[in-house]
Amino acid sequence: MTDSKNTFYITTPIYYVNGKPHIGHAYTTIVADTLARYHRQKGDETFFLMGTDENSQKNVEAAKKTGKEVGVYVDEMASVWRETWLNLGISFDRFIRTTSAEHKKAVCEFYQRVYDKGDIYPGEYEGLYCVGCEKFITESELDENGECPDHKKKPEAIKERNYFFKLTKYRDRLLEHIERHPEFIQPEKRRNEVVSYIKDFMEDFSISRQAMEWGIRLPTDEKHAIYVWFDALLNYLSGIGFVQDEIKFDKFWPADIQLIGKDIIKFHCAYWPAMLMSAGLPLPKTVFAHGFFTVDGDKMSKSLGNAVDPVELAKEYPFDAVRYFLLREIPFGEDGDFSLKRLQERYNADLANDLGNLVQRALNMIDKYCDGSVDRDIKIDMPFSVETVRLHIESLKFDQSIIETWKGVSWANKYIEDAKPWELHKSGEHEKIKEVLSRVYVVLADIAETLTPFMPETANKIKKLLSTEKLSPPSEPLFPRK
Ligand code: MSP
Repeated sequence: MTDSKNTFYITTPIYYVNGKPHIGHAYTTIVADTLARYHRQKGDETFFLMGTDENSQKNVEAAKKTGKEVGVYVDEMASVWRETWLNLGISFDRFIRTTSAEHKKAVCEFYQRVYDKGDIYPGEYEGLYCVGCEKFITESELDENGECPDHKKKPEAIKERNYFFKLTKYRDRLLEHIERHPEFIQPEKRRNEVVSYIKDFMEDFSISRQAMEWGIRLPTDEKHAIYVWFDALLNYLSGIGFVQDEIKFDKFWPADIQLIGKDIIKFHCAYWPAMLMSAGLPLPKTVFAHGFFTVDGDKMSKSLGNAVDPVELAKEYPFDAVRYFLLREIPFGEDGDFSLKRLQERYNADLANDLGNLVQRALNMIDKYCDGSVDRDIKIDMPFSVETVRLHIESLKFDQSIIETWKGVSWANKYIEDAKPWELHKSGEHEKIKEVLSRVYVVLADIAETLTPFMPETANKIKKLLSTEKLSPPSEPLFPRK
């Protein structure tokens, strides 16, 4: 038998660069990072792809406002995005840009396959296009002022000859795949939305735009630019070397999990799988669409000026605390609300009081009463199950996973309270103190392990403290109260 390693390939959407990252983008990114770290910890050969969606008309408009050439603007902004994630400790393996030569090559090859399959045809399109959404929208989707409800702008009326992809040809195969593979679209309510879209509303879509100067040229007609969504979805292939690094591509495709927000399910759960079917490629195993969150109850938007900047937030709170908060507070898949007040409450209660204090206190007592030494191999009945934590991560129930770990944190705090090592010290029961603190030590060691994917920096700090020969408390609290 060959001892082949498991692989794990995870992606986030590639973000538009017409503005800075906000907490919504950070959310998807943090979840992907947590899963990537979990799989690396498990020993899987992991590939975590992120990147930027740069061939979009909205980037052209944003560049115009700054007076910069589009190419210069997207270069600058792509590095803002990349650097932001790096500074926040996001462990992506590759950052793909859709203006890169490698991506363009992959798009052209892919397009050619679909074209050769006979799935592209010329047609005339007349309709309303919203640049904010980068999609055609219907009259019925507009608000009472005739504007796109999400972007508060009147869509452009467009009538042009362009090329279409035969999406409807794949209707039956898509429905069959979704039925046979319930894990393909998650959570279930999104699957139901997609099924009803495919059955009742799905139409062929235009995959080229005439008169768009910015964007990848259509290999079969240079006058057209490839529609930005057709191009963008292909980052998931170009990012792992499609037609350019076959070994890598074969190793990682199909993706294990593609994370998206619920705003873009149509593209990822109908267009994307049909495009892959057309090109003869297998479909991703799971596309998971999480919910959206509001800020203090309001929709996050530029016009309201309430977009939370993750970089600013990371100046106030350790980024691990932001990760903890988002994963603990919002059941994954549901909509949620982000509020600084809630973050502060959870920070003080769960992190400063429960976890930070436990580490400080336990190590302080080990130092003071046991001269920095405990029995690190003591066998005890664990107050929480590492296995349960893992199972919850695998089923994307991050809040449950954290709740399970916190059983260990609460147990240890209470155990110290009840056993009162300071009184044992007074009565000279040294063996008993050592036993109590050894128990706490091994629970802490497991906590540090299970927290690694969620709060990597904190977990590493705890592991480091627990691995010194003579144990002593951290010089500063892990989470100073706010
Ligand atoms: N460029 C496209 C995606 C192409 S993928 C082939 C795009 N980019 S985006 O910059 O608008 O990012 C959208 C994604 O950001 C959402 O799908 C979601 O992952 C995340 N979020 C944006 N706002 C959000 C919230 N308010 N709440 C949660 N996630 C949010 O669409």
